[in-house]
Amino acid sequence: MAAAKAKFTRMQDGTAEEYAVIEEADAKYFADLPGRVAAAVAGLAKEGLGGYAVDRTQHSLQSATRAHLAGEDVDYVVAALVHDVGDPLAPFSHGRLAASMLKPFVSPRIAWIIEQHPVFQMHFYAPHMGGTRDARERFRGHEWFEDAAYFCEHYDENCFDPNFETLELEFFRPMLDEVFGRTPNFPETAAHI
Ligand SMILES: [Fe+2]
Ligand SMILES: [Fe+2]
Repeated sequence: MAAAKAKFTRMQDGTAEEYAVIEEADAKYFADLPGRVAAAVAGLAKEGLGGYAVDRTQHSLQSATRAHLAGEDVDYVVAALVHDVGDPLAPFSHGRLAASMLKPFVSPRIAWIIEQHPVFQMHFYAPHMGGTRDARERFRGHEWFEDAAYFCEHYDENCFDPNFETLELEFFRPMLDEVFGRTPNFPETAAHI
């Protein structure tokens, strides 16, 4: 049997009954969010950025594995796992894309680290690609400056080792379920847009 659908063509004309149908479908869709995030991480391997020694999925798993082995908490490990998930669709603002995904579910500090990591990452390679190591200095004095620098040094710039034993994506799935299964803490996410 086909799923029930609203019939309105303009949102302003929808009835309470129609929105009840939509709300039920939304709830099922939101429940699949951890699975969609996992698929996005897995899908990074098929995308570009092919010049590196490891593909982007392996890089992401290496980042999350290192964070987990270092004793970082579940929010941080999940953030490490998704930090580059925006590469395919937002190659010039990928930190912001990942941070937007994380913001409703994790602390502002972790979201900020992920949002700004592309700038801090430049410290390790920029002169080779026409940039400057000092790009991160614009944030000097920020309360989370050292945290972002630490993330890049320990869980990003060093995560291109093809011989590193990464944990599989399945290992992190319960962590994705926990973090992306939380009640979102952003008012805007309660609105249906
Ligand atoms: Fe990145
Ligand atoms: Fe990265």
